[in-house]
Amino acid sequence: MTGNITLTMVKPMAVKKGYIGPILAKINEAGFKIIAMKYTKLSLDQAKKFYEVHKERPFYNDLVNFMSSGPIVTAILEKENAVESYRNFIGATNPANAEPGTIRALYGTDLEKNAVHGSDSDENAIIESDFFFSKVERY
Ligand code: CMP
Repeated sequence: MTGNITLTMVKPMAVKKGYIGPILAKINEAGFKIIAMKYTKLSLDQAKKFYEVHKERPFYNDLVNFMSSGPIVTAILEKENAVESYRNFIGATNPANAEPGTIRALYGTDLEKNAVHGSDSDENAIIESDFFFSKVERY
């Protein structure tokens, strides 16, 4: 059975460029229900913890520095088959390879500054949602 939630972040560059509104509007239009949301900023340690699964990868240091460089918007989104559905909606990790019309094609700059994060599995969707939100912050 597939899960019905995924965790997203609007990344610092997309926030800086004024894309929060357009991205949230498209999320709504695509039928995802926002069940939790916050405007916040990750500390370097929080970014390191969030992306711990990538800690051996060559891009890890740059990624966590970038993700803690400015405010983000993070949300738990609900929809049937949420993880796969959201990944299709945002497009390939590298905006250069993302399908036209997807969030990363429209608002991404490069592989690191790719506008938004989306959970890559149901298991990680739960871990990542718990990272940002307590039970009483979900509606
Ligand atoms: P995200 O969905 O947030 O998950 C991990 C992030 O690492 C990814 O988006 C990219 O922004 C970033 N990243 C940087 N370099 C790479 C790479 N070579 N392969 C995959 N992800 C990368």
